[in-house]
Amino acid sequence: MNNIILIGFMGSGKTSIGTLLARKLSYDFMDTDQLIEKRAGKSIKEIFALDGEEHFRKMETDEILSMQDYLQHTVLSVGGGLPIRTGNAEILRKLGTVVFLKAHIDTLKARLAGDTKRPLLSGEEWDKKVTLLLQSREPVYENAAHLIITTDSKCFEEILDEILEKI
Ligand code: S3P
Repeated sequence: MNNIILIGFMGSGKTSIGTLLARKLSYDFMDTDQLIEKRAGKSIKEIFALDGEEHFRKMETDEILSMQDYLQHTVLSVGGGLPIRTGNAEILRKLGTVVFLKAHIDTLKARLAGDTKRPLLSGEEWDKKVTLLLQSREPVYENAAHLIITTDSKCFEEILDEILEKI
């Protein structure tokens, strides 16, 4: 097993940290949101609006299922909702070492304020949605992970070193 799978809430730094980690290891970097957008020829926002969330969730599962045949030497960042769907956490754990990038709710809210790309955060009550979603998702991330890395008040370099030391 040689892949590293980054999971965590929206705004937890999966894509930024994943890109740097892959560069450091000379691994490929992949991101399920980017793969889905490419495959659909639409943004995540458009997929949610035109095809619905359930369609997007199915695309996420199809993406990780197909990876079982080819994923090698890759750091994979997955959308924040992907590990939540029944059965997906098990697929991720078979694909590689699952690392949960854990951040405090205040850190996440500060990073997500003003976001316009994430359909789940649209509307005025977005910060209440973050609170509720995080409450329900955090235990699922913790269960799915082989390794939990807290990221609050750490710079990227410290986070990378900690991941490399512990995996
Ligand atoms: C989602 C997270 C997003 C994206 C979509 C839904 C979620 O990815 O997949 O907007 O349900 O948490 P990021 O976690 O990369 O923001």
